[in-house]
Amino acid sequence: MKIAVFSTKPHDREFLKGGSHEFAFLEPRLDSTTAELAHGFGGACLFVNDTADAAAIDSLADGGCRLIALRCAGFNNVDLQAAKRRGIVVCRVPEYSPYAVAEHAAGLLLALNRKIHRAHARIREGDFSIKGLMGFDLHGKTAGVVGTGRIGAAFCRIMLGFGCRVLAHDPFPNPALQQLGVEYTPLPRLLESSDVVSLHCPLTPGTAHLIRAETIAQMKPGVFLINTSRGKLIHTPDAIHALKQGLIGALGIDVYEEETGVFFENLSDTIIADDVLMRLTTFPNVLITSHQGFFTREAVENIAATTLANIDEFAATGDCTNRVHPA
Ligand code: NAI
Repeated sequence: MKIAVFSTKPHDREFLKGGSHEFAFLEPRLDSTTAELAHGFGGACLFVNDTADAAAIDSLADGGCRLIALRCAGFNNVDLQAAKRRGIVVCRVPEYSPYAVAEHAAGLLLALNRKIHRAHARIREGDFSIKGLMGFDLHGKTAGVVGTGRIGAAFCRIMLGFGCRVLAHDPFPNPALQQLGVEYTPLPRLLESSDVVSLHCPLTPGTAHLIRAETIAQMKPGVFLINTSRGKLIHTPDAIHALKQGLIGALGIDVYEEETGVFFENLSDTIIADDVLMRLTTFPNVLITSHQGFFTREAVENIAATTLANIDEFAATGDCTNRVHPA
């Protein structure tokens, strides 16, 4: 099959190869204005910040596209109803390395707690003082994990390893985690009891702005909030307000609700227009990474292998085991 790969980065060229398919590596993100680039291709391969809304899908379908192969797990950026209506099969990579994202979440937490980002900056300036860098022992603290699928489960195990009490909230409790001592609880109790809250649920209409003024008010003052899932789980202006009041003690994010067009790009020569994002960068207790949670060698190899297998299966059968259906 001929596949148009949108939002191409160097690692895509390096890993997405092999098999009998012909890949055209395109740097633009997919949206309704760029979908035409895929005309004449049987499939489009998309990443997290491509926008496969109804207009983009209509254009892809008009151009002969029959497959959207997501090289990611989340699929909130694809209008699945529109794809179904236009006869396009959507498949994804449901699992590639839950450890990559869970370990990154733990990294954000550790860096924020022990202020490693600030210590690094100080030492580069010849300032070896430790004033203001005091953290706390994670051992004995309570970690609240929202969503205990693949990544949330790996994060629970890491927190248990640190000696934390782990509370979890998920409509589908995982008995293996319960056996390890993870306690499932309704969200309000998790929020009011946790020193650290880490988000690992998908973005759906039901979880959008799960963290907003009302839910922040339920949290322990000074809570450490980590989000490696999807930016829109947090209402960012409410989080900024809570940071200014000290209600949120630290915020670690790998995702941001308006990240499209910013994350993954080098904008160091431009004026960034997003005042909310720029305000976030001014807090000493906010650590932002640019959607790199997935970015380990193992994960990228697995993403490429599953994407190729998905395309192979679709080319052979017209369907795919990792197909995503509308809810
Ligand atoms: P998963 O599908 O294995 O687990 C998601 C879990 O969330 C499920 O157990 C589900 O029951 C639970 N859930 C659904 N609604 C919920 C709610 N309202 N409250 C609490 N739990 C709820 O997904 P996986 O692989 O663990 O990924 C989680 C999320 O991480 C993805 O949806 C994606 O947005 C994000 N992600 C981020 C990456 C990054 O690079 N930062 C990379 C990969 C995924």
